Amino acid sequence: MALSKKELKLKEKEIKKFNKQKFKEYTKQKNRKNVPEQEYVTQMKNPDNLIEFDNLQTYFYTDAGTVKSVDGVSFDIPIGKTVGVVGESGCGKSVTSLSLMGLLPGPYGQIAGGEIRYNSKNLGKVVNIAKLPQSIHGKIRGGEISMIFQEPMTSLNPIFTIGEQIEEVIYYHDPKETKEGRKQRTLELLKAVGISRVEEIYKSYPHELSGGMRQRVVIAMSLACGPNFIVADEPTTALDVTIQAQILDLLRDLKNRINASIMLITHDLGVVAEMADYVVIMYAGRVVEKGEVKEIFKNPKHPYTKGLLKSRPVLNEGTDRLYSIPGAVPNPINMPSGCFFKNRCEDCMDICDSVYPSIVDVSDTHKVTCHLYNERKEG
Ligand SMILES: Nc1ncnc2c1ncn2[C@@H]1O[C@H](COP(=O)(O)OP(=O)(O)O)[C@@H](O)[C@H]1O
Ligand code: SF4
Ligand SMILES: [Mg+2]
Repeated sequence: MALSKKELKLKEKEIKKFNKQKFKEYTKQKNRKNVPEQEYVTQMKNPDNLIEFDNLQTYFYTDAGTVKSVDGVSFDIPIGKTVGVVGESGCGKSVTSLSLMGLLPGPYGQIAGGEIRYNSKNLGKVVNIAKLPQSIHGKIRGGEISMIFQEPMTSLNPIFTIGEQIEEVIYYHDPKETKEGRKQRTLELLKAVGISRVEEIYKSYPHELSGGMRQRVVIAMSLACGPNFIVADEPTTALDVTIQAQILDLLRDLKNRINASIMLITHDLGVVAEMADYVVIMYAGRVVEKGEVKEIFKNPKHPYTKGLLKSRPVLNEGTDRLYSIPGAVPNPINMPSGCFFKNRCEDCMDICDSVYPSIVDVSDTHKVTCHLYNERKEG
C-alpha cells in the first residue's frame, strides 16, 4: 500500500535522524587516535590465503534508506591465485573492492559489519581492514595493493606526462632512488607492459594515447610499487575486443612473473574462464555460488550462474541473439523476503518465497546457496 504524504514525510524524518546518528558514531570511531593494535591485528583462518572476506556488510546510508550493497559476503583469495568476482551490474562487486581498499565515499558508505582479514607484507602481520585506522590503511594501499579501474583516466592525471606520473609512484615508495634511476625504472616498466617506443610514450600526455595504451600505462604504474595483490575492476570493459584480449594476456603474464594474487572483477564469465583459478558469483549483494573455476563451469548449480553461463557469447557458435536472464536485480533498499533471485528463477519453489537459502557444500571447493540443493540434501 502506498504511503500518504504525511507518512512519507515522517519516514523521511526518521531516516535522516537514523543516518545522522550513524554518521556521528562512524566519525567518532574514525577520528580516534592511538587505536590499540589488538583491535585490528588478527589471524588468518587459513595461512594459504592472502585475504579472507568474512561476512562483510557494507551499507550506504542514503536519504531514501539504508542500501545494503554488500550483505554478508564471504570468500577467500589464496596467495598467488586469481579470483574472479562476477555478477550483473549493481550486484556489489565494486563496493566489495572499495571496502577492501578503504575507498568508500564517507560518511554515507560504511563497513557495517564482518571482517576483511589481510596478510600484510609491509606490516608483517594480519590485519582486519574493517577495523584498520585510516593512517595504517594508507601504508597498504598503493604500497602493496594496486588497483586498476575500468576507466584508465581515473588513475591518470591529464596535466602530467606518463613519465612524470610513474616516476612519482617510484619516488613515493623509494625516495632514495636517483633521478636517472627513476627514469630507467619507468622505461623498464613501460617495456614490461608491452609498450614499444618507450621514450616517446614517456614524454606523452594521457590524452595523446589510445584507451588500450592508457590501460597498459596504468598497469605499469600499478606495478611500480611492487604489489603482491592487484584489484582489477572491469579492467577491459571499456576496450575493444582485440585490445581486451591483449590486456588480459598482459595481466596473466605479469601475475605469473611477480606471483601476485589478483581479484578480477567482471560481468563477463568468459574473462573468468580464461584468467581465474576461483570464481565468486554475486547476486544482489550476496554470494550465491563460489568455487574452483573448472568445477563451476563444468557443473554450475545456482540458477543465476546457469543463466550467466547461457548469456555468455561463445565465438563461432552462430547464435543470432544472446540469451539474457529475464527481469532485473531487486532494489537493494527493499530486498524481498526469501531468495533474492526468486522473481527471475524458473525453478522457484514455495519455500523460496519466504526463507533465504543457506549455504550448501557441493564439494570441498564448491559452495552454492539455493533451496534446490538444501532439499536434495535433506531428502
Ligand atoms: N555511493 C553510493 N550511494 C548509494 N548506493 C550506492 C553507492 N555506490 C553503490 N551503491 C549501490 O550499491 C549497489 C552495488 O553497487 P556496485 O558495487 O557498484 O555494483 P557492481 O556489481 O556493478 O560493481 C548498487 O545497488 C548501487 O546502487
Ligand atoms: S533458492 Fe529457489 S528461487 Fe532462489 S535460486 Fe534457488 S530455486 Fe531459485
Ligand atoms: Mg562495478
